[in-house]
Amino acid sequence: MRTNQVHCKPALLAIAFMVLLFSSSDMYAQTTNQMNKEIEASIDRLLTQLSLEEKVAMCHAQSKFSTPGVPRLGIPEIWMSDGPHGVRGEINWDNWGYAGWTNDSITAFPALTSLAATFNPELSKAYGKSIGEEARYRKKDIILGPGVNIYRTPLNGRNFEYMGEDPYLASIMVVPYIQGLQQNGVAACVKHFVLNNQELWRNHINVEVSDRALYEIYLPAFKTAIQEGQAWSIMGAYNKYRGQFCSHNERLLTKILKDDWGFDGVVITDWGSAHDTKEAALYGLDMEMGTGTDGLTTTLKNAYDNYYLAYPFLELLKSGEIEEKYVDDKVRRILRLMFRTNMNPNRSFGRMNNQEHLDVARSVGAEGMVLLKNEDSFFPIPTDKKLTIAVIGENATRAMTVGGGSSELKAKNEISPLQGIRERFKNATIVHAMGYASGPPAYGRVIPSELDAEVLKKEAVIAASQADVVLFFGGLNKNHHQDCEGGDRQQFGLPFGQDELLNEILNVNDNVGVVLVSGNAVGMPWLSEVKAVMQAWYIGSEAGHAIADVLSGTVNPSGKLPFSFPKKLTDNAAHYYGEISYPGDSINQHYKDDILVGYRWHDTKKIKPLFAFGHGLSYTTYAISDVTTDKSEYTETESIKIAYTVSNTGNANGAEVVQVYVGKLKSKVDRAIKELKGFDKVKVKKGTKESGEISIDIADLKYYEESISNWRLEKGDYMIYVGNASDNIVKKLKISIY
Ligand code: GLC
Repeated sequence: MRTNQVHCKPALLAIAFMVLLFSSSDMYAQTTNQMNKEIEASIDRLLTQLSLEEKVAMCHAQSKFSTPGVPRLGIPEIWMSDGPHGVRGEINWDNWGYAGWTNDSITAFPALTSLAATFNPELSKAYGKSIGEEARYRKKDIILGPGVNIYRTPLNGRNFEYMGEDPYLASIMVVPYIQGLQQNGVAACVKHFVLNNQELWRNHINVEVSDRALYEIYLPAFKTAIQEGQAWSIMGAYNKYRGQFCSHNERLLTKILKDDWGFDGVVITDWGSAHDTKEAALYGLDMEMGTGTDGLTTTLKNAYDNYYLAYPFLELLKSGEIEEKYVDDKVRRILRLMFRTNMNPNRSFGRMNNQEHLDVARSVGAEGMVLLKNEDSFFPIPTDKKLTIAVIGENATRAMTVGGGSSELKAKNEISPLQGIRERFKNATIVHAMGYASGPPAYGRVIPSELDAEVLKKEAVIAASQADVVLFFGGLNKNHHQDCEGGDRQQFGLPFGQDELLNEILNVNDNVGVVLVSGNAVGMPWLSEVKAVMQAWYIGSEAGHAIADVLSGTVNPSGKLPFSFPKKLTDNAAHYYGEISYPGDSINQHYKDDILVGYRWHDTKKIKPLFAFGHGLSYTTYAISDVTTDKSEYTETESIKIAYTVSNTGNANGAEVVQVYVGKLKSKVDRAIKELKGFDKVKVKKGTKESGEISIDIADLKYYEESISNWRLEKGDYMIYVGNASDNIVKKLKISIY
């Protein structure tokens, strides 16, 4: 009889009973504490029963996406899957190929850039809950996401997977996603910790950055994900920081993450990001995945035993060169994650591909769309008129859930923009022309299209010349050197001859609206010539429905840009400082932009962006008024209460994002003119007004002082900036901190 398995069960049943018994919050708190004690006691007992070999085995992969359990003790395997936008198709045991299952098609949710653009934490919770239900149903214990790497350069191939350029926005939006996900008993794995802000040379580039920028810009979203989101795992990045690989970086993992932040979960490598046994053993790595092996490499033993945290680690433990306490801490963390997931008897059963998940995907997609320009009320397009609408562009039909790297999905359905438009504009004559072609999906390489670009262009110009309305679906896609992992973009402008095509279209029709399907800022030389521009992002299964909702006016756009669109690449801070700043010299990279990332740079250096962080128009108009603070002087322990009223002065119901930025006046140190410190998304019906209040803790106005390796609050005068975009401030209020 496997005593331990029997032993293990009563403890779990006791936990289940207690959860059912208590419901009130304080009792809940007591129960939670009691449950945690029970779990820690169970872990203590299990640790005494595990052999050294079993402990080591739990610290590394047994396949591409799983780690072994300990059958002898009833400890299950851990199964994980990408990615942040949905549960990835099943991958083979030993290689990156797809297993060809027929029951792993899922709901593809919008990219996290789209979610961030909603500025709606409630939607983020619904998103996390939904993806967690699908992960449960697919029997995954860890979802490898969300990603919160800061948007530093518009060329980063993976910006579409992340939550923009501002640490406060990313911090607010990542927490509910994690909470919603983990309430299903599935662990989030927030990634990629840290400074993985480009794909070029990602596997080895050494990032040098000041402590100020590290603590003020690049760490906050991870810290909030851990401390408020309570993420149960985190993924180490591929790159180096200060000469040491992030996935076993003593300062990042042992000091900052585990000691300072109190992280009690599991540090997992990125796939193949471990490079040294001793460092992995001593500097906070808990679980090694994806190290360079297909599992089939011919050795006497399974190649997974050659992982850094496999035999080499076991040998160092057996020789006493590394104390057993190091492997015990790793296994303790792994078991804790298991009691929260696959050894938690109260986990839900999950569900997938249901209407509710599709509705969440559609709501996020529609609410994340950002109306950048809208002259002559080009949008919304009336659905009751017999218009001829030319829908031009490969991005009107191209599947965007395919490609992009590890976030690629096997969507059960993906409604294309063209399909959504055809369904919605039933009175119109819809004419589609491809216009340009990018070539078939391919990872790590570019396969040019074999279609005749000139023929495509001619067809599109003819279609445009005969239309009442032209909708140009442009942007990027999920191919290599576009919005895709493993490489960066090689140009700031639109690829595949889109600019030239647009110019020829504009020669024959001036009633043109551009819909950008993309995850990055792009150049827009044609901006003054087109009537309207809508940033649609990558929306997933419900793309066509969400886009039709907004283009037809069923949904009034309320998205705001989560990152700046520079007019030209060298207007971006990372590119301003030359190659050593981006992309580096292939060995080292220096973040010379320091704390001035995104709008912080544009504001402080007075470089006007094409479109600013926080910008987004509506089909109605709003007025923000009655902006006041509760006081004008504050002490360090207080909070500023900023009251506001939003009036909907137009003819459509909608939602506005009231944004509060704060800047220190006459600072003794270099600081950005202003930084986002609060926002509210406020639904306001036409002709009505809503009042609200945003509270900002004075403590959150500190800057990171390197000389004391800690945060410092500057006393004196600050400016509060309130508006609906970083470049549209309607009220400034001076306050003082004493
Ligand atoms: C990839 C990605 C990471 C992903 C992992 C597993 O290289 O960097 O985000 O979760 O490997 O596919």
